[in-house]
Amino acid sequence: MKGLKNKRILITGASSGIGAGMAEVLAREGCRLVLHYNRNQTGIEQTLEAVKALGCEAEVIRCDFKQLADLNRFFKQAWSIFDGLDGLVNNAGIVTKSTSLKDPLGEKFAETLAINLQAPYQLSTAFANACIKAKQPGAIVNNSSIHGQATCEWFSAYAASKMGLDAITKVQAVEWGQYGIRVNGLAPGVVPVERTDKILNEPAMAEKWCERMPTGRYGTTEEMGEATAYLLSDATQWMTGSILTIDGGLIARGNYPVR
Ligand SMILES: NC(=O)c1ccc[n+]([C@@H]2O[C@H](COP(=O)([O-])OP(=O)(O)OC[C@H]3O[C@@H](n4cnc5c(N)ncnc54)[C@H](OP(=O)(O)O)[C@@H]3O)[C@@H](O)[C@H]2O)c1
Repeated sequence: MKGLKNKRILITGASSGIGAGMAEVLAREGCRLVLHYNRNQTGIEQTLEAVKALGCEAEVIRCDFKQLADLNRFFKQAWSIFDGLDGLVNNAGIVTKSTSLKDPLGEKFAETLAINLQAPYQLSTAFANACIKAKQPGAIVNNSSIHGQATCEWFSAYAASKMGLDAITKVQAVEWGQYGIRVNGLAPGVVPVERTDKILNEPAMAEKWCERMPTGRYGTTEEMGEATAYLLSDATQWMTGSILTIDGGLIARGNYPVR
């Protein structure tokens, strides 16, 4: 994809699922990668091996995004690996299923917002400041969700975090356009990953989901990687503040019964 070769990209949450898929696609596109993980060391080693097999220059760094005070140090370390970064992919996130009644003190709510919203806010701000100081452009991709647009029971924390992420995507895009820093979001639909494998691939569940999607199937981590590559590339130089929904048509179809 246009302009991606040799670009230095930090991907958070690259130890499994969509982040690992993004890493493989960006490696194929010739990017140099800083791969972040938190707890899944085996997973990040697998991602590293996969991207290195594609000839990619890559390094791994660890940080727990619940520890918000560590984020500046983490970002500085990430920036120093290739002496700068051209792109940031805020992908790390947790999917919290809880009801307000079961979380009256909002502990899960606060944790979800710290990892899914405050951490991307701080990392994007650190990235923008570093780009401005280095007098260079930059591109940010925030991995949101269709829960940023339409949601359901159990998802108050998750949906709030993703709706908030879509909001900062737009505001930061507006604030940083003057510096040549683009900020876009990706809103994936249902994408089976290791975490969801058992639930989503159970035949009755798969049928229930897939009949609602005009495309009749789940998405893949590779497709999310392709979309991310597009948003980071020079093909989207005039695109900022947008949320790209990639969901097999699920949101467009709405909640109408299948005819
Ligand atoms: N799969 C879907 O259907 C879907 C749909 C829409 C949006 N998304 C979004 O896609 C992103 C990736 O999710 P996924 O589905 O690929 O799930 P996943 O495989 O569970 O990946 C989550 C990633 O986030 C990292 N992470 C979790 N807690 C963290 C913490 N406290 N500090 C730092 N990193 C942390 C994990 O790192 P460790 O495992 O190393 O701790 C892991 O790399 C999330 O933002 C999610 O909301 C997923």
